[in-house]
Amino acid sequence: MKEIELIQKATEPIIKWYQKNKRDLPWRKEKNPYHIWLSEIMLQQTRIEAVKQYYKRFLAEIPTIQDLAQVEEEKLLKLWEGLGYYNRAKNLKKAAQIIQEKYQGNMPQNYSQLIELPGIGEYTAGAISSIAYNEPQPAVDGNVLRVISRLIASKKDVLDPKTKKEVTQNLKEIMPKQAGDFNQGIMELGETICLPNGEPLCEQCPIQELCLAKKQKLTVQIPVRNAKLARKKEEKTVFLLEFENKIAIRKREKTGLLANMYEFPNINQKIHKKEIEAILRNWGLVGIKIEKIATHHHIFTHIEWDMVGYKVQVTHINQEFIWTEKETILEKYPIPSAFLPFRKKM
Ligand code: ADE
Repeated sequence: MKEIELIQKATEPIIKWYQKNKRDLPWRKEKNPYHIWLSEIMLQQTRIEAVKQYYKRFLAEIPTIQDLAQVEEEKLLKLWEGLGYYNRAKNLKKAAQIIQEKYQGNMPQNYSQLIELPGIGEYTAGAISSIAYNEPQPAVDGNVLRVISRLIASKKDVLDPKTKKEVTQNLKEIMPKQAGDFNQGIMELGETICLPNGEPLCEQCPIQELCLAKKQKLTVQIPVRNAKLARKKEEKTVFLLEFENKIAIRKREKTGLLANMYEFPNINQKIHKKEIEAILRNWGLVGIKIEKIATHHHIFTHIEWDMVGYKVQVTHINQEFIWTEKETILEKYPIPSAFLPFRKKM
């Protein structure tokens, strides 16, 4: 059987399985395109369980696209704190502003308009247009690549953009009328049955009889992931500087990694306790009590931080930093996840 026929044959069992087994998720209650958009953006790079709470809180604070277009960046980033990939949040706001101006606040209703918006790529445009409007567009994420690669026993590297293109093209040709249920069905299969790393739960799979990887006992080898990402490695020493009940933070640069978020003062080098005094002097500070509080390794897409943190009681404050109470930091200032192990020690 040709690959495309195999995929075509899988559509109906996947849709039926999805309709019967779909999980009860907050964004599945109705087909509000703003809600679907938000959920799809949050779900990129983030587990469903983690997203649920963020999603509910976000919509409680920012219930409409109009509100999103006007939200203060600080509030937006605070609502995103801990989810990472903060450009996702910034792009949501930019896109909302465009929707306000160009579409009178109504979410555009087709793939080609959606993909023009900031932060909406092929996957997201496909997901929103199929789920909200049943437009027959594929939405290929890592789960879909795994399910389809196994179904057709493809040994092509799923990290190679060419593979994603081919899968997308194949799916375009066979998209069923119930496009939203089909796309969500494949994603859900990937998330709950056709599991990565190790044994998928083939006995529960609605397309086990079609699956060539199962037949050929290749579910461990497939999907193939070859392309390796070389990340730059950086070291950091992070300071939790305390004066009375205040802690020092500072705003990051306007551009680049974690732009406009807040962080504890830090330097790009790991140092020992003995060397800390000199650093403090540079900042116009004197430390009286120095204590190592935590180490943390943080992995971003293109960079890794190897971090060590010290808590330091200082004798006075300086002008260079923002000195503020713990409660204010927790309530108001968006701090990236990389710093949260240190924030816990406030
Ligand atoms: N992962 C990302 N989006 C999803 C969706 N709409 N359904 C199931 N899993 C998903």
